[in-house]
Amino acid sequence: MVKRKYKKFQEEEVLGKQVDYILLRRLLSFAKPYIFFIILATVLTILISALSAIRPRLTPIAIDDKVAKGDIPGLNIIIVILLGTLIIQALIQYFNAYLTSWIGQKIVYDLRKKLYSHIIHLNLKYFDNTPIGRIVTRVTNDIDVLYEVFSSGLVTALGDIFTIVWILYFMFSLDTTLALITMSVLPLLVYATAVFRKKARDSYRKIRILVAKMNAYIQEHITGISVVQLFVKEKDTIEEFSKINRAHTEQNKRGIRYYAVFFPVVEFIGAMSVALVIWYGGGQVVQNNISVGVLISFIQFIEMFFRPIRDLAEKYNILQTAMASSERIFELLDTKSDIIDPKHPVKYESIKGEIEFKNVSFAYNEEEYVLKNVSFKINAGERVAFVGATGAGKSTIINLLCRFYDVNQGEITLDGINIKNLKQEDLRKNIAVVLQDVFLFSGDIRYNINLGNDKITNEKIHEAISNVGLKKFINSLPDNIYHRVSERGATLSTGQKQLISFARALAYSPKILILDEATSSVDTETELLIQEAIKKLIEDRTSIIIAHRLSTIQCCDKIIVLHKGQIREIGTHQELLEKGGLYYKLYQLQYKNQI
Ligand SMILES: Nc1ncnc2c1ncn2[C@@H]1O[C@H](COP(=O)(O)OP(=O)(O)O)[C@@H](O)[C@H]1O
Ligand SMILES: [Mg+2]
Repeated sequence: MVKRKYKKFQEEEVLGKQVDYILLRRLLSFAKPYIFFIILATVLTILISALSAIRPRLTPIAIDDKVAKGDIPGLNIIIVILLGTLIIQALIQYFNAYLTSWIGQKIVYDLRKKLYSHIIHLNLKYFDNTPIGRIVTRVTNDIDVLYEVFSSGLVTALGDIFTIVWILYFMFSLDTTLALITMSVLPLLVYATAVFRKKARDSYRKIRILVAKMNAYIQEHITGISVVQLFVKEKDTIEEFSKINRAHTEQNKRGIRYYAVFFPVVEFIGAMSVALVIWYGGGQVVQNNISVGVLISFIQFIEMFFRPIRDLAEKYNILQTAMASSERIFELLDTKSDIIDPKHPVKYESIKGEIEFKNVSFAYNEEEYVLKNVSFKINAGERVAFVGATGAGKSTIINLLCRFYDVNQGEITLDGINIKNLKQEDLRKNIAVVLQDVFLFSGDIRYNINLGNDKITNEKIHEAISNVGLKKFINSLPDNIYHRVSERGATLSTGQKQLISFARALAYSPKILILDEATSSVDTETELLIQEAIKKLIEDRTSIIIAHRLSTIQCCDKIIVLHKGQIREIGTHQELLEKGGLYYKLYQLQYKNQI
């Protein structure tokens, strides 16, 4: 287990991924819906390279056939053809650039959508073990890398290969010896490219690891900004961040150096090729073996020849980075949720709300059992409280009931049906949970109450608001229920957020209501409001209340006392007090504190 975890946290740093054809095929499958456009773009790209290679080919005709022979009208025709091809080429290039970016964006859009909806359905266990920053990196940066492959990469690589072949054909058809001389520098170029590719790839990978690290670091410390500031840790975190940032800059500098060396080297090799051609070709011209036009045409070809080779080296790098990214993306896509809906779910519309735990044992991590052989039954409409020390396993019971995790042993039933036989949606839509940490989304108050469910009308929302005693507050807001809540509800007080979450639960009018320490972090005045709200909330429904303050739960039909994952006592407030056990002790403790 420890080993596996270790591996998980290291996975960001896996290096040395070659181009993997299985991976590539899977990646390309995302391009399938756009195959027509990709073929079109490829045809256009080939057309562009064909057109651009025509120009040098026209040079010897213009110089040797027209200029040398003083044929001005003929020269004009050549010039017009040249101009025409240039204009057509420019137009096609414009259209093609647009088309390829469009294809890339479309594919990236699809992939991102797929990834996001996959992530949203993963079970909580995955999120327990994965830094959020890393997930964000997958959906943003990693997918952006793929954009390059799908937009320019693939199609232009084909164009580049075609250009090279096309130019080779022209060169050999003009003059074999000169063509061979031009080619003589190729081994040098191949060697330089190979060295560059390796260096650039390693550096690029290291950069990506550092980017992921940076994302995770920023995400974590901004989420915990109040802790950072409260404990005056700004300096330390800045220093820590600077380390990652510096490493990132250094690595980038190294990467840039490779490019800075590689491009001049390619230029140099190209220039060598030109020099060789001029030296040999010049001699041939003097001896009248070849014409000046052919020589000039060759010089033009060499320039055109080296560009696609350089581009291909770069594209290969893009492809390799894309391989690393797509491997991570597919790994995430292949992460299956352990909690899956049954093949043949039990269908039922109206539930009564009877809950039973039968000998339930559960561990978040193998072997560390946090619930041990827990059995209890809650009848429909009953109000039950769970009490116990922090870490006793109260919230875990809720997590299991909502099926955020599956039990290791035993079973949980709802109206006598094992919850594993229900669709998760059917199960959860009947349960509303109000937690101690209220989560509000950025949006207005209305959205935070109905969560975008249009079946919950404004009328219902207003009703819920007045039932939880929030009416006065909401009416004091300039935009009423359309008042915008900032991210995580930072502009509202804890009590206000808590009441909004009560209104959310009430508006959904679930059959089962769960309050997990929902009143723990509010002031006494708000607590009074909340007490009133709770009374309304628990009418006509099965309710589970977990509360620190025992005063809130005295009216419950049943109190279940948990201790270290086991049920120690079950009974009413009076019964448990008379018993003089754990509950009695807890009560005494609080009673003393309150005096
Ligand atoms: N997501 C989790 N992953 C691993 N362990 C957890 C997780 N959530 C809770 N625990 C552990 O399970 C035990 C019970 O936690 P919990 O049910 O939250 O306690 P309570 O709500 O009674 O305070 C604790 O020891 C806690 O550390
Ligand atoms: Mg808890």
